[in-house]
Amino acid sequence: MMNINAGIISDLRNKYGDAFYLLDSEQFRKNFLELKATFEEIYPNFNIAYSYKTNYTPKFCKIVNELGGYAEVVSEMEAELAIRCGVNPKRIIWNGPIKNLKKLEEYLLLGVTVNIDSISEAEYIRELAEKTDKVLNVGIRCNYDVHDGVLSRFGFDVDSEEFKKVLEIVTKTSNLHFVNFQCHFAKRQVEYWPARVKGMIELVDRVGIVPERIDIGGGLFGKMEDSLKAQFTSEIPDYKAYAEAAATIVAEYFKDKENKPELLIEPGSAVVGDCMKFVGTVKTIKNVRGKYIASVLGSQKNISMSGVNPPMEVIHMTDDQREYIDLDFVGFTCIEGDVLYKNYTGSLGVDDAVVISNCGSYSLVMKPPFILPNFPVLDICGSQVEVIKRAETFDDIFHTFNF
Ligand SMILES: Cc1ncc(COP(=O)(O)O)c(C=O)c1O
Repeated sequence: MMNINAGIISDLRNKYGDAFYLLDSEQFRKNFLELKATFEEIYPNFNIAYSYKTNYTPKFCKIVNELGGYAEVVSEMEAELAIRCGVNPKRIIWNGPIKNLKKLEEYLLLGVTVNIDSISEAEYIRELAEKTDKVLNVGIRCNYDVHDGVLSRFGFDVDSEEFKKVLEIVTKTSNLHFVNFQCHFAKRQVEYWPARVKGMIELVDRVGIVPERIDIGGGLFGKMEDSLKAQFTSEIPDYKAYAEAAATIVAEYFKDKENKPELLIEPGSAVVGDCMKFVGTVKTIKNVRGKYIASVLGSQKNISMSGVNPPMEVIHMTDDQREYIDLDFVGFTCIEGDVLYKNYTGSLGVDDAVVISNCGSYSLVMKPPFILPNFPVLDICGSQVEVIKRAETFDDIFHTFNF
């Protein structure tokens, strides 16, 4: 992304308003390729399934497809998005606990791989397989303890009777093609990664089935500024640390085996976190019982981060600034807790821009239509501004209501 300065912001404001997201598609491409290469160095038969939910901007989804990655989706909405982005259904992996049954049938028939999450889903899919001549691609979401203090509600307890039953269904039903074991654990600390991989390897070893793919899920930290890293209680691992923690174990287990499955991870944040910035405008500065407060067109709901001070740059847009100590930047909503940044010390003026980095994951997709429709998303990577998502309007929000 080009360096953002007052001139660029002024031009963008004139055309798109006082708040917008800046998307960095070049950085996304770089992250994808770097993460892939880092794992491949240790275990070459490796690929990335991009977690759509984290940021389903079609531009990102299309880049993943172009770079040969898979689409990891968790709803029929996201599955449809992948198809609309031109993804071959065979490159779509559908996870998640609740799937629309009609869509499940439709997408299985197209060749989407469905990771089964419950026994009723397995039985439904078996019935589908029995009434078609097409081959349906399925996997099993696996659940085991990785000692991260979480009792996951997803998938099958690998030590349960239900697991035996689902394994039997996917391996013995004609027309069902068993593609992979899959898991996902949300905690991002790298210390839990060896356990998730060992769990998979132990399972493969115990059941004596080497699937085509082993999918160990997402849950990796992305790249971030040191100021943000410093606010976490744990170390922030880089791509290499995850690759070493995970791929090494897979490489070791399969080193003398002829059949080496494809290893997949399902990152969202790790590839997209640093690929969006949010730009807002300081509208008022006031003092309440000694505390300075700047109200911003922009909200904590736009940036997804809470409880931390995000990486933020203030760009002066006028000649009228003064120095402040411990000023809070707050959002446009009427929630008292809508704070973007706490205790800023430095110069500031009304109309200044605040540029907040690391807004790529769980931001746009989790922005509620609360108080205001959402701001536009722009890509300024090339020489021109590309409108990725236009500003939402009144009608975008209200056309589903009956007046
Ligand atoms: C099944 C699955 N895969 C991948 C991800 C992506 O996670 P992250 O953004 O932490 O990498 C999630 C997130 O919840 C998930 O549920």
